[in-house]
Amino acid sequence: MSYKILEKKEIAMRNIWYRIHAPHVAKKVQPGQFVIVRAFKNGERIPLTPVMWDRDEGWIVLITFIRGRTTMRMASELKEGDELLNVAGPLGNPAEMEKFGKVLAIGAYTGIVEVYPIARAWQELGNDVTTLHVTFEPMVVLKDELEEAVGRHVLETVPIDPNLDFPTNMKNVTKRLTEKVRELLEKEEYDMVFMVGPAGDQRAVFNVVKEFGIPMKSDLHPIMVDGTGMCGACRVTVGGEVKFACIDGPEFDAYQVNWDELIARSGYYTDMEQRAMQEYMKALQGGEQ
Ligand SMILES: Cc1cc2nc3c(=O)[nH]c(=O)nc-3n(C[C@H](O)[C@H](O)[C@H](O)COP(=O)(O)OP(=O)(O)OC[C@H]3O[C@@H](n4cnc5c(N)ncnc54)[C@H](O)[C@@H]3O)c2cc1C
Ligand code: FES
Repeated sequence: MSYKILEKKEIAMRNIWYRIHAPHVAKKVQPGQFVIVRAFKNGERIPLTPVMWDRDEGWIVLITFIRGRTTMRMASELKEGDELLNVAGPLGNPAEMEKFGKVLAIGAYTGIVEVYPIARAWQELGNDVTTLHVTFEPMVVLKDELEEAVGRHVLETVPIDPNLDFPTNMKNVTKRLTEKVRELLEKEEYDMVFMVGPAGDQRAVFNVVKEFGIPMKSDLHPIMVDGTGMCGACRVTVGGEVKFACIDGPEFDAYQVNWDELIARSGYYTDMEQRAMQEYMKALQGGEQ
């Protein structure tokens, strides 16, 4: 099977769009599902989300945020016409397709790309969907597409302050995110809130939502390896029970998630991830000399 890159472009700072030939995924994928991609021979497997697809033409669109070594390597080494080694999927459960009523669907940073197919399908089903995208100013994606797909798209951008370090800049995003969610929930009556984004931001938003007692669903992003339920790397505690996000999720009831555990587990490999990225950057610089 060939997973040819039909199109590749940078759509915003550190956000890369890949349109990939993957007919078996395009034929079956439903909003809320994901794929596991291996791009290089000695590379790791990473979970990514089909954002758009064409069942007849057999392609899917993936949008990656350049975060660490693998996403950076994909951005710098892959060209249009190249092939990905493996694209496994569709994996995970489709998002629940119901008439919830008035829905607030939130995407923090590149999380909005995962919100897009779900929010669009909910709107098509007759829900009144407001999407909220909170991110840094140069990282806005899918604005036009969301404006067309849902009832209302709210975009909140935060400038990157070059005098502050990245974690402090990210705290500004969290602040804007929670303030905006509070403002929307105070002004209007929502039946359901849905969110995709870093676990820390999800917990911060959940703490606001629960004050209003509104049901909330969260798409969780624990570390994944196989993505098919065989290893448990993606385990999360939900309602006191161990669940595997790749087969029981990735969508869960935010009120049931053990957020502290999820946040701690997400940081387990930080040292190794930083080392892998530094080694890659060094190799890149070496290669250029
Ligand atoms: C169901 C699901 C869907 C996702 N969809 C998208 C998407 O559409 N676009 C996108 O940009 N990102 C998506 N992600 C996150 C993406 O998998 C990580 O950004 C990617 O693995 C980072 O790899 P890296 O080597 O560049 O960074 P690393 O340096 O390896 O990691 C940086 C951070 O990424 C996360 N991460 C790393 N490896 C994994 C892994 N194997 N599984 C899950 N998280 C990991 C961790 O939080 C880690 O701290 C998704 C994650 C999940 C679980
Ligand atoms: S990634 Fe291995 S069980 Fe979910």
